[in-house]
Amino acid sequence: MAVTARVLIEETRHAFDGVAAVYDRTNAENVTLCEMRRRTLAAIRAHVPRGGAIIDLGCGPGTDAETLVASGYSVTAIDWSPAMVEEARCRIARAGLEGRVQVHQLGIHELDGLRPAIFDAACSNFGPLNCVPSLADAARLIAKRLRPGGVLVASVIGRVCPWEIALYVSRGDWARLRVRFARSFVAVPLGGRTVWTRYYSPREFERTFAAAGFTRVSLRALGICVPPPYMVGFAERHPSLVASLQRLEDRLASVPMVRALGDHFLMVLQKR
Ligand SMILES: C[S@@+](CC[C@H](N)C(=O)[O-])C[C@H]1O[C@@H](n2cnc3c(N)ncnc32)[C@H](O)[C@@H]1O
Repeated sequence: MAVTARVLIEETRHAFDGVAAVYDRTNAENVTLCEMRRRTLAAIRAHVPRGGAIIDLGCGPGTDAETLVASGYSVTAIDWSPAMVEEARCRIARAGLEGRVQVHQLGIHELDGLRPAIFDAACSNFGPLNCVPSLADAARLIAKRLRPGGVLVASVIGRVCPWEIALYVSRGDWARLRVRFARSFVAVPLGGRTVWTRYYSPREFERTFAAAGFTRVSLRALGICVPPPYMVGFAERHPSLVASLQRLEDRLASVPMVRALGDHFLMVLQKR
C-alpha cells in the first residue's frame, strides 16, 4: 500500500478509536440513525436466509452483529479500529453471545488475512466502505469471501444529499458544500481527529462492484426526505413532521433518479 494511503487509514483508525467508547450510546440516542439502521437490517433479513453466515465489514461497536446473531445468523465481525473491536467484544460478552460471534481487528483492505472462510453474505453499515483505500480492491476481496449467489448489503455515504445542499447554501458555506463532490479522499472531522472519506454515487459504487463480479439486486436512498443524522436536533424538534417525511421517503426511496440521492444509499449486490 502506498505511504499516503497508509497514513490516511492510520488517521482514520485513530479517529474511530477516539470515539469508540461513546459511539454506541450516541448512535442509539439518534432517532434518525436508528431508523436508517432498521432499514439496513430489514434488507439483510430480506436477502439472507436465516441461519446464514454473515461477515459484518466495519462492525464498529457490534450493534448489528448482536442483532443479527439474535435473529439467528452466524456472524463474523471485523473492524480496523482496535477500540471499536474491544467495544464489540464487550458488547457480545455482555449479551452472553461469545462463541456465536467472532470479532477480529482487521481492515476490509486486509480481508485476505482472515482465516479461510466463505460467507453467505456480507454487510457494511454506515460507511466503512467509504474509508477503504481502494474500493476496487475491497470489492475483489469481498467477492473472494462470498459464495456464488451470496450478497453484499452496503449502506454507503452518497454524494448528493439534498438536505445538506440546502443547509450549506443557506449558510453560504460553499467550501463545505463541495466536500461530497470531491473525487478523492476528504478530511472529515470526528471528535477532533480526521476520518478520510471518499464519497460515492450509487453508479460509481455499482460499477466498481460489477467489475469484481457483482450484480445489483436493489438500491434505495436513505436520508433523502428525512434530514441526515447530524441534523437530529431538527428531527427531535419536529417529530411528527419527520415521521411524515420518513413515510414519504419510504415510498420514494427506490424510484429511479430519486434513489441516487440522499445522505446514504443502501445497495444490495449479488455475487454472480
Ligand atoms: C461510521 S462507523 C459504522 C460502524 C458500524 N457499521 C455501525 O453500523 O455502527 C464506521 C466503522 O468503519 C470502521 N472502518 C473504517 N475504515 C475501515 C477499514 N478500512 N476496514 C474496516 N473497518 C473500517 C471504523 O473503525 C468504524 O468502526
